Amino acid sequence: MSGVGLFPFTEEHEMIRQAARDFAQNEITPIAAEFDESGEFPYETIMKMGEMGFMGIEVSEDYGGTGMDTLAYVLALEEICKADASHGVIMSVNNSLFCYGIEKFGSEYVKQKYLRAVASGKSVGAYSLTEPMSGSDAGTMRCTAVREGDEYVINGRKSWVTSGPVASYIVLFVMTAPEKKHKGITAFVIDTDQPGFSVGKKEPKLGIRASATSEILFEDYRAPVENRLGEEGEGFKIAMAVLDAGRIGIATQALGISEAAYEASLAYAREREAFGQKIGEFQGIAFKLADMKTRIEASRLLVYSAALAKERSKESGERFTLEASIAKLFSSETSMFVTHAAVQIHGGMGYSKEIPVERYFRDAKITEIYEGTSEIQRLVISRLESGIR
Ligand code: CAA
Repeated sequence: MSGVGLFPFTEEHEMIRQAARDFAQNEITPIAAEFDESGEFPYETIMKMGEMGFMGIEVSEDYGGTGMDTLAYVLALEEICKADASHGVIMSVNNSLFCYGIEKFGSEYVKQKYLRAVASGKSVGAYSLTEPMSGSDAGTMRCTAVREGDEYVINGRKSWVTSGPVASYIVLFVMTAPEKKHKGITAFVIDTDQPGFSVGKKEPKLGIRASATSEILFEDYRAPVENRLGEEGEGFKIAMAVLDAGRIGIATQALGISEAAYEASLAYAREREAFGQKIGEFQGIAFKLADMKTRIEASRLLVYSAALAKERSKESGERFTLEASIAKLFSSETSMFVTHAAVQIHGGMGYSKEIPVERYFRDAKITEIYEGTSEIQRLVISRLESGIR
């Protein structure tokens, strides 16, 4: 692993990284192509990842988590994503969108009731902000919650929910005061076992096909007031703060995909011959590999730096928005660059489903889209840097 000297890695970090690598290689790599093809949710391996402590790495042991830091989380996630980006996004959403959101913004009641099962990996958690007519412009949602006594009645349709069809609990953002625009959004934790909740259309996707993504529907769903995260109207800021953590997860996912594509390309360039020599001896291929490696190492530094910024924020309370957005922007665009080059280096084999390079290429694309597109990351970075809105 490069960058070791720059970061405060401990023996514990090395242990979780190695455990994740062994698990990924032994349990995930052999099934990744099959689950990509079928689009089935890989329950068995996800439950085993829970037993390994990978589904709530940063959550305190008091709430069923592993009690480690953000660096431990990204090191483990990187290894899982290197084997399969679908397992990776399920792990990322569980850890950094659901668990982080509940641990940071949930009341003691909410933490006791909902965090333990998800952090320990016995149940799957999800996060739902997007709607059919509101993606990047997250403040314009239409899904509503109307207070009636000690309950809120929720109605509407949310879309593109990672793990939506399988989640037991979902961190949900809805409008409680539409006239106030983003200041009228409120966050809740939803129990999907309750009446009024249903799973809608499943998304037929280009990549990360083994992760389940769907619409979710609310028809007079009643959420007790205790299930609210924060106060009424605080939902947008909660959504954004939680996405800061999520974006480090997606940056890590992109890094893992890039590494897998690069390693496959390097091995192929060393072994495949054309015109009487190994293709890696042609400068056209060698320089491609050099560019891939350089960008991957830069991504790694940005991802680990963002992890450290998040870790520091636990003490200082300071936002790590800039570090998270920079890491996601660079790492996701690197992943597209690297997987595109990997397919090209492999030629016809890169286009074949007989080896995983075409899957890396398909999986990489989503990292430039979800949890904030590359355009949104540029908006966030430029606004924070210039102060101009
Ligand atoms: N942390 C805390 N507060 C934040 C914040 C952050 N990171 N970012 C913004 N805020 C606060 C602002 O300070 C501001 O506060 P005030 O009202 O007190 O002034 C408020 O939120 C509104 O901020 P903006 O004016 O910047 O809001 P905006 O409407 O211009 O939107 C945006 C900003 C960056 C474009 C934002 O809408 C955004 O990030 N959009 C992308 C949404 C996204 O990533 N969606 C993906 C959903 S999840 C998913 O992909 C599916 C899945 O399951 C994985």
